[in-house]
Amino acid sequence: MKDRTYIADLKNHVDKSVTLYGWVAKARPTGKVAFITMRDGSGMCQCVLEKSDTTEPFFDVAKKLSQETSFSITGTPHLDERAPGGVELHDITACHIMGESNEYPITPKPHGVDFLMKQRHLWFRSQRQWHILRIRATIVDAIRQFFNGEGFKLIDTPIFAPAIGEGTSTLFEVEYFGEQIFLAQTGQLYVEAACMAHDKVYCFGPTFRAEKSKTRRHLTEFWMVEPEMAFCELDDVLALGERFVTSVVQRILKDNRDDLEAIGRDIATLEAIQAPFHKLRYADAVDILHGPKAKELLEKDLEEKTAQVAALNDKITELEETEKTAKKQWQKEKAAQDIQAAREDRAELEEQIANIPTHMRLAAEFEFGSDLGGSDETIISRLHDRPVFVTHYPKEVKAFYMRVDRSDDKVVENFDLLAPEGYGEVIGGSMREEDYDILLERIKAHSLPVENFEWYLDLRRYGSVPHGGFGLGVERTVAWLCGLKHIRETIPYPRMLGKLYP
Ligand code: 4AD
Ligand code: MG
Repeated sequence: MKDRTYIADLKNHVDKSVTLYGWVAKARPTGKVAFITMRDGSGMCQCVLEKSDTTEPFFDVAKKLSQETSFSITGTPHLDERAPGGVELHDITACHIMGESNEYPITPKPHGVDFLMKQRHLWFRSQRQWHILRIRATIVDAIRQFFNGEGFKLIDTPIFAPAIGEGTSTLFEVEYFGEQIFLAQTGQLYVEAACMAHDKVYCFGPTFRAEKSKTRRHLTEFWMVEPEMAFCELDDVLALGERFVTSVVQRILKDNRDDLEAIGRDIATLEAIQAPFHKLRYADAVDILHGPKAKELLEKDLEEKTAQVAALNDKITELEETEKTAKKQWQKEKAAQDIQAAREDRAELEEQIANIPTHMRLAAEFEFGSDLGGSDETIISRLHDRPVFVTHYPKEVKAFYMRVDRSDDKVVENFDLLAPEGYGEVIGGSMREEDYDILLERIKAHSLPVENFEWYLDLRRYGSVPHGGFGLGVERTVAWLCGLKHIRETIPYPRMLGKLYP
C-alpha cells in the first residue's frame, strides 16, 4: 500500500493527513461520535469520528466496524497524552471496509482457556497475547545479538537425531526410511563437535520432548539456545550465563517497556535482575528444602490462599445476589461474567491449596541424590531475590555427558539457573566430560549403545579440551520475564500433551 502509514509512526506525522490500515480491536459507536481502536502490526490507535454533514457517508461505514473487521481510515493524527500511544486520529476524511468480520468468536467477555486454546490462531490477536508475542520476538533477537556480539558462531544442528541427547524418558521416535530415530531433544552433542572447530559456537532452534505430564512449565516442542565454549571452566560458563540473561532483560526493558506495562508486568522486579546472581551447591539446596524457611513459606501460602478463597466465596455470593436482583439486563450479564471469572480464580486457588501439603512433604523428605522437582525449584527460587545457580548435582540424576567433579566423584560439574518468583529452571548446563575413558564408562553406565556415540567419542580422541555450555529455554524465559502463569501463552502455537490444534 503506497500511501500506508504505520501506527507506530504517527508521531512523525502529527497534523498531516495519513491513511492507516488495520483491524478493529474495539469499536464504540455512541450516537454522534464513533470511537474505533485500530490495531496494525505496529501498535494501537484510537480513531475518533464525529458525525457531521461531511462525514455522514463514512460515519455509516464506521458504524458497521465490528470487532476484527479489516479497514483503512484516513485522518489527521493529534497528540493526546491520555491516548494509548500518545496519538489519536481525528478529522477523518475516508473510511473503507476491506474484510468483514461477523460474530468474531473471541468477545470482550471472559472465555475459558480451553476455548481460547482452540482459537489460538485468533486468540493471539487479543491485546495481551499480542504484547506477549512482541516481547518474545525481542527476546529471540536479543539472544542472537548477544551471542553474535560475543563472537560465537551459529551452528545449525539437525532435528532428525540418530542418538539420544538428554535422557531416554522423553524421546519422540520417528521412523526414518525404516530406521528408528528420534526428534532432537538438544543440539548440544553436535555443537560440541563444532566447538572443536570454532571455539565459541551456539545453536538455536526447536527441540522436542515427549513430556507426558501436563504442567505449566512443559511443552513437547520448545525453542532452545545452546552456547558451547572450548578451553573453559565451570565458572566461565556461569559467568556467560549471567551476562547473557542480564543482557536479555536489559534489552526488553529498553525495547518493550510499553508491552510489559500493558500486560501488567512489574518493571521494578525486572530491573532488579542484576549480576551477581546467587550461587548454591546442590547440597546447600537440599539443606534449604529441609530447613525452617521452606516450611514457613508454604505455611504462609496456605494461610494466604485460604483467605483468598474465603474472600472469593463472599464475592461470588454477592454477585449471585446482583445477578438475581439487578434491574437492567446488562447488569445481570456483567454479574454473570464476573461470577464465571471469580469461580475460575477460586478453582485455581483450590488446586494450589490441595498441592501445598504434597510440596511440603516433598521438600521435607527430599533425599540427597534425587533430582530437584518443580515444586522444590519453586521453593528455592522464591527464597532468593535474584536468579540462583544451583551447581554440582549427584551424577546419577544427570545426563551421561556431564563432567565428573575430580574433587568429589559423586557429583558432576553442572548447573541449573533458577529464575526468581518461583519460575524455576530456565537454564541447564554443565562442563562436558572430556576424558575418553570416563566418558566411555558413563555411556555404558547409562546403558546407551556405544556404537551410536563413536563420532562423539572422536571428540575425545582428537584434541580433546575442557569445554562446557548450557541450554536456555525460550518459552520458560518468556513466561518468567512476562510474569505468566502458564507456558502455553509464550509461543504462537503451543504443543503440549493433548494440544495439537491449530
Ligand atoms: O536442562 P535441559 O534438558 O538441558 C539440555 O538440553 C542441555 N543439552 C543443554 C546444554 O547444556 N546445551 O534443558 C535446557 C532448558 C531448560 O532449562 C528449560 O529452560 C528448557 O530447556 N526446557 C524446556 N522448556 C519447555 N518445555 C520443556 N519440556 C523443556 N525441557 C527443557
Ligand atoms: Mg534441566
